[in-house]
Amino acid sequence: MKEIIDEIRQAFDKDAEACKSVKEIEELKIKYLGKKGQVPALMQHLRNVAVADKPEFGKLVNDLKVYVEKALERSELFFSEKEEASKLSQESIDTTLPGRQKVLASKHPISAMIDEIVDTFISMGFSVVESPEIETDYYNFEVLNFPPDHPARDMQDTFYIEPNVLLRTHATTFQGRLLETMKPPLRVICPGRVYRNETISIRSHVFFHQVDGLYVAENVSFQDLISTMSEFIRKLFHKDVSLRIRPSYFPFVEPGCEIDMACLVCEGKGCALCKNSGWLEILGAGMIHPQVLRNCGLDPEKYSGYAWGLGVERLILLRYGITDIRLFAENDMRFLAQFPSL
Ligand code: DAH
Repeated sequence: MKEIIDEIRQAFDKDAEACKSVKEIEELKIKYLGKKGQVPALMQHLRNVAVADKPEFGKLVNDLKVYVEKALERSELFFSEKEEASKLSQESIDTTLPGRQKVLASKHPISAMIDEIVDTFISMGFSVVESPEIETDYYNFEVLNFPPDHPARDMQDTFYIEPNVLLRTHATTFQGRLLETMKPPLRVICPGRVYRNETISIRSHVFFHQVDGLYVAENVSFQDLISTMSEFIRKLFHKDVSLRIRPSYFPFVEPGCEIDMACLVCEGKGCALCKNSGWLEILGAGMIHPQVLRNCGLDPEKYSGYAWGLGVERLILLRYGITDIRLFAENDMRFLAQFPSL
């Protein structure tokens, strides 16, 4: 029996010496101390030993067990510390590496321009409302005095959802909704997206943005419109700008006009931006048609008002000299990153 115990101890020493990792130590633990391991097998064997020899062999087996346990414990500690250290050295932080740069998001140029326009009108005493993008034929056309056969009602221009429900073709739709419910004096703007069923090209898109506005009170004059618009343009572009007013037709205003501003680049001399005309068209406007006021329950003998609608994309094109309107809807970061947040 003694020889067997010595043999096992020697075999264990050899095995332990060959170990190189915590995992291998675990395997040895099973081999020698596990349920079916060599040390428990020796314990079983003790049963067959003569009673007189039991204390001596019992002690030897027990010594072997303690020996194996201690040895395995030491080796396990040794290897686990070693493995931890090598893991840490791989994970170490290189403090000399440059930090990763965070990309700061910025406002879309359309949102930035709308915010600027809105802030400018607020500073001039206007309030801001929103109006639905999905509209009825009534607010998009009828209340605004569009004759039933007006070309803008044509399927060509308007996205219809149902026979009487459509995507608004202009932000002027807010007029009917506002004038029906609020009492003048009213000085209100409405920014938002509008839709037209047009072929997409560098000049036109199926959706774009407008800021419409109106002033309705007693004794509002055409001169009020002109001075408000010129003050707005001066504030927006931070300089004095000459305006040119051309007569134009919109069913909801009388008289109606289009307003041009002196070209930002050549200041009237003629260049590529203004196509050598010296002028840039910026908005449509006019005195609100008496029929529109009447449609909204207001007495045109008592009240008068002016209104305008300006294209947001157009102002951005002019300010930055952009030539392709499609860029605004493409979400190309190379384009968008050029507009710093305001
Ligand atoms: N709604 C017109 C358009 O989309 C713009 C416009 C012109 C609005 C004259 C107005 C106005 O309020 O008075 O082309």
